[in-house]
Amino acid sequence: MEHNILVTIVDRNGESKEYEAPTDMGLNVMELCKSYELPVEGTCGGMALCASCHVYVMSDHELTEPTDDELAMLDQAFFVKPNSRLGCQIKLKDSLDGLKLVLAPVAS
Ligand code: FES
Repeated sequence: MEHNILVTIVDRNGESKEYEAPTDMGLNVMELCKSYELPVEGTCGGMALCASCHVYVMSDHELTEPTDDELAMLDQAFFVKPNSRLGCQIKLKDSLDGLKLVLAPVAS
């Protein structure tokens, strides 16, 4: 049986789009973005070590608490807001249906 949720992602041009996201493959938000060729590098492969997957969470879904590693990385990232998270640390699951995210800007 297929398990899909819908995740809305606003890219860095302000364009909002709804993406189908499988919840039975152990994917995280960074991997989802990459699979749809959104400009998310995921340089560290999801180890909470690069912040290239930085997103803002715009919906009030209950997410797992950030780990110390994630908080330490966000501490060094640019453009951090109270709703900042690392996409690679958000695992796609059924309860996140309707999740809305905005890709954080990248420092130039
Ligand atoms: Fe590197 Fe998320 S992919 S911190």
